[in-house]
Amino acid sequence: MLVLEQLQRRFGDVVALERLDLTVAAGELCGFVGPNGAGKTTAMRCAVGVTTPDAGTVTWEGRPVSLAVRRRIGYMPEERGLYPRMRVAEQLVYLARLHGLPAATAAANTAHWLDRLGLAARRDSPVEELSLGNQQRVQLAAALVHDPVLLILDEPFSGLDPIAVDVMSEVLLERASAGVAVVFSSHQLDLVEDLCRSVAVVDAGRVVLRGDVRELKRAGDRRLRVAVDGDPGWAAALPVDTEVVARRNGEITVALGAEVDPGVVLELARASGPLLHVRLEEPRLSELFRDALQDRLPR
Ligand SMILES: Nc1ncnc2c1ncn2[C@@H]1O[C@H](COP(=O)(O)OP(=O)(O)OP(=O)(O)O)[C@@H](O)[C@H]1O
Ligand SMILES: [Mg+2]
Repeated sequence: MLVLEQLQRRFGDVVALERLDLTVAAGELCGFVGPNGAGKTTAMRCAVGVTTPDAGTVTWEGRPVSLAVRRRIGYMPEERGLYPRMRVAEQLVYLARLHGLPAATAAANTAHWLDRLGLAARRDSPVEELSLGNQQRVQLAAALVHDPVLLILDEPFSGLDPIAVDVMSEVLLERASAGVAVVFSSHQLDLVEDLCRSVAVVDAGRVVLRGDVRELKRAGDRRLRVAVDGDPGWAAALPVDTEVVARRNGEITVALGAEVDPGVVLELARASGPLLHVRLEEPRLSELFRDALQDRLPR
């Protein structure tokens, strides 16, 4: 289990982490989300030991992250970190050896991941000759090649095409079900919602929402999505504990507090014209995210 406890980190006057707590268990696939500048990269760097926190602790299985533990972490840094001129396979073998693997295992793991990630044909190409998405696949292979027990990936999905997104998703799910603790940052909330059971929303250096995605959705304000063939002005007179949270393509989304009867809102809508469509749903993760940020604590 990875435990980040009360992490604090400043850069001059900027508070990047403000008592951030996060726990990621073996077998967990945790989506780490938050607005730009929220502190995700800083927290991940602290977890890997690239950045030292000003205060707070990072432990793996109850102990500080030693060099031996670091060798069992797979890390994909935000700034990426491959040697551009080195050939793909050569680089992966080198990285695996650097993490302490014997030559034969390093070669076997390299072959496995190149195959798994659809890179076998590029094994002898210099990394710089690969497309951005393929470089990203190599970056994932580099994070996996030494059989890590903890995976920390900073925006692994950014810049990937839908096929590569599927490959990345499958690999992360597979690693988590093999017992690896996986945490990855992303701005693609719909993807995180589909992929992860577990999510942590960070804002202004602290975790503002944490837990099981399904439970958080269940506990969140329901959304009534309504389109009416009539004046959208009906939504100006909503009952208490309801709020218009989006208007898109003629559809109005109303968040309903726990006690609100959706029928009351529907009556209002119907009074302005025939209903075109109606859906009553749990909130999307992206909506919970916005809710959590609205309630943000003053810094
Ligand atoms: N090396 C640094 N020097 C100065 N300020 C820094 C440094 N690293 C991070 N910061 C600041 O700390 C805050 C948190 O940055 P961080 O990169 O952790 O955010 P993030 O959540 O990863 O954002 P993004 O989604 O944009 O990647 C920001 O205000 C950032 O400007
Ligand atoms: Mg970042």
